[in-house]
Amino acid sequence: MTNITAISNQKGGVGKTTVAVNLGKNLASMGKRVLLVDNDPQGNLTMAVFGDELPEEVLLIGDDGVAIPGLSNCMQLYSEKASFKPYALNETLHIIGSTKHLSEVTTRPFEIIFEFKDNVESLRKQYDEIIIDCLPSFGALQTAAHMTADHLLIPTHLDEFSVRGLEEQLKTANNTKRRLNPKLKFLGILANEVSAQRVLVEEHYYNDLKAKHNSYLFDAKITKSAKIKESHAMRLSILEYKKNSDQARQFQHFTKEYLERVSANG
Ligand SMILES: Nc1ncnc2c1ncn2[C@@H]1O[C@H](COP(=O)(O)OP(=O)(O)OP(=O)(O)O)[C@@H](O)[C@H]1O
Ligand SMILES: [Mg+2]
Repeated sequence: MTNITAISNQKGGVGKTTVAVNLGKNLASMGKRVLLVDNDPQGNLTMAVFGDELPEEVLLIGDDGVAIPGLSNCMQLYSEKASFKPYALNETLHIIGSTKHLSEVTTRPFEIIFEFKDNVESLRKQYDEIIIDCLPSFGALQTAAHMTADHLLIPTHLDEFSVRGLEEQLKTANNTKRRLNPKLKFLGILANEVSAQRVLVEEHYYNDLKAKHNSYLFDAKITKSAKIKESHAMRLSILEYKKNSDQARQFQHFTKEYLERVSANG
């Protein structure tokens, strides 16, 4: 059974893209057929995979700002009767990349979110895991991901703004679930960029989350390390970059928990 997972938090910089890359690559290295969908006009997931040298398949956009049919920019997923082919990074890991042009779709009628859903659905059979990296704001692009996904995964920092923002994200996702996608299930919350040493304020917000969402908190936590930034710069997952690091072990632990939860959620 295929899992479509939206990695979402309207709060910026909490680790959505980092989780998408590391989860996606870990799953692909286990033999799962994985599709990464960069649903963010910042194109960070695309950069994390390709660097500055974007292949034509992702980059080519017509003079009118419209993606050229047959190419694999995420914009295509918002078009009716689109023809697109995900870019194969290797046998098990494919990507539909994005560029800043993706923001143009937000100027189109709201119905384009249904095109996104239908187009992603049409890819379901080809993959075991479809991972959608969301942008850091509410609106049509985020709603499109929430109405398409089976599972919602929220990475967060352990601070006041992030923990408060998370409640807003849950409220919005629940509205989408109620109105547009009853099958959407909340997979869990992943604490990211946690200090390796004990920090009281982080402990406070962790306990706060535990009190409100106990069983939804992943046991795995990702600690803060410059190695994560270095791994992005090298266009590698942390496991590919430093396989003996704490963060590589933490992402492996998280990947295992992810698989347990999606199968329990299914
Ligand atoms: N555990 C970590 N330790 C150190 N740095 C991290 C960690 N996780 C993420 N980062 C860094 O924090 C920054 C933001 O991470 P990322 O881009 O994954 O967040 P995001 O939620 O996708 O951001 P946006 O909301 O802009 O899409 C990046 O520079 C990333 O390398
Ligand atoms: Mg991001």
